Amino acid sequence: MRIGVPTEIKTDEYRVALTPAGVRELVDNGHEVLVQTGAGVGSAIPDAEYVEQGAEIVADAAAVFAGADMIVKVKEPQPSEVALLEPRHILFTYLHLAPATELTQGLIDSGATCIAYETVTDTRGRLPLLAPMSEVAGKIATQAGAFMLEKPLGGRGILLGGVPGVAAANVMVIGGGVVGMNAAFIAIGMEATVYVYDRNIDRLRELDIAFGGRADTCYASTLDIEKRLPDVDLVIGAVLVHGAKAPYVIRREQLKLMKRGAVIVDVSIDQGGCFETSRPTTHSDPTYEVDGVTHYCVANMPGAVPITSTYALTNATLPYVLHLADAGVERASRENPGLAKGVNVVDGKCTYAPVAEATGQEYTELFDALGAAA
Ligand SMILES: NC(=O)c1ccc[n+]([C@@H]2O[C@H](COP(=O)([O-])OP(=O)(O)OC[C@H]3O[C@@H](n4cnc5c(N)ncnc54)[C@H](O)[C@@H]3O)[C@@H](O)[C@H]2O)c1
Repeated sequence: MRIGVPTEIKTDEYRVALTPAGVRELVDNGHEVLVQTGAGVGSAIPDAEYVEQGAEIVADAAAVFAGADMIVKVKEPQPSEVALLEPRHILFTYLHLAPATELTQGLIDSGATCIAYETVTDTRGRLPLLAPMSEVAGKIATQAGAFMLEKPLGGRGILLGGVPGVAAANVMVIGGGVVGMNAAFIAIGMEATVYVYDRNIDRLRELDIAFGGRADTCYASTLDIEKRLPDVDLVIGAVLVHGAKAPYVIRREQLKLMKRGAVIVDVSIDQGGCFETSRPTTHSDPTYEVDGVTHYCVANMPGAVPITSTYALTNATLPYVLHLADAGVERASRENPGLAKGVNVVDGKCTYAPVAEATGQEYTELFDALGAAA
């Protein structure tokens, strides 16, 4: 198969979907790799390192799409990239289609087979291609929140860890999955007082063991969250309902319960946001204020640390890229039911039920769609 790697064009995105190690594995398995010139530069990977492992460098995205059967990317395709997709293409990237009706329609109209990193599951139902970026985003969330609490940045002016004789800040993490646990670990490391809320009791049990008494675990009822809001300095929203738009865990009217200059970080913004007042922001302009509360809602947080993120992401995606290249979508999906869960769009049909429901598209069973496409 010919695998194409375009340069990411979304604002402030410096990651790349394949490293020279990935090129080496694909070429050793008999595949060809086309890399757009400069695709790796944001992650400190020059073209020459790809060439050394057997990739061909091409001039622009149009040449990548024209020459490749499978396009591997990081972020969802931008309109100029959707325009380059053809029915023969496999697109393998983050898509986050549930809150994106226009993009979903664009991918359906393209006729391409579109596989979303974030809905691929492993044998335990976890999300192996979201996890590495969630680890990064969780760690950044606390770091960014701590920074935004500083007075010159519009924050309350409180130090997360306090000092001897002065109390630490209170950090509330809502959603104790991969993002939430990593956010909590950094907050614990910074010596804040930390509360982690989730609705899954088994998850709360796991977290309780992992924290070893250094953070409190709490059931995420609306009332309990509301009661804690007047005391918190930093709230990190990290809930996820797989493949669906994030539920609101803080409503607009609840913001007035919070202290002026408190900070909320909505990591779930890529699934539509879990605070009612959230809207996506970028690293160049990451915050805005509503009712005296600073909102940090950067939709591609791991993009800020591309060297860490590119390697963390590609370590996780490469086995799937190889499987798809070796076996094609249909056989790879039959051999790995978790990979099958990643296939969101085939031949003009939506094959992932939560996205179909959220975007008002008709749902078609994956193998029916693949059968019709064959
Ligand atoms: N902004 C970014 O750059 C960025 C980067 C990585 C991940 N994310 C997003 O962060 C979110 C969390 O990802 P994750 O990998 O931690 O997911 P995860 O599945 O590991 O964890 C989500 C947790 O939310 C809990 N949850 C669901 N509904 C809840 C509710 N109403 N109240 C409290 N808890 C609830 C679940 O029980 C689960 O423990 C996702 O939306 C993901 O897309 C964003």
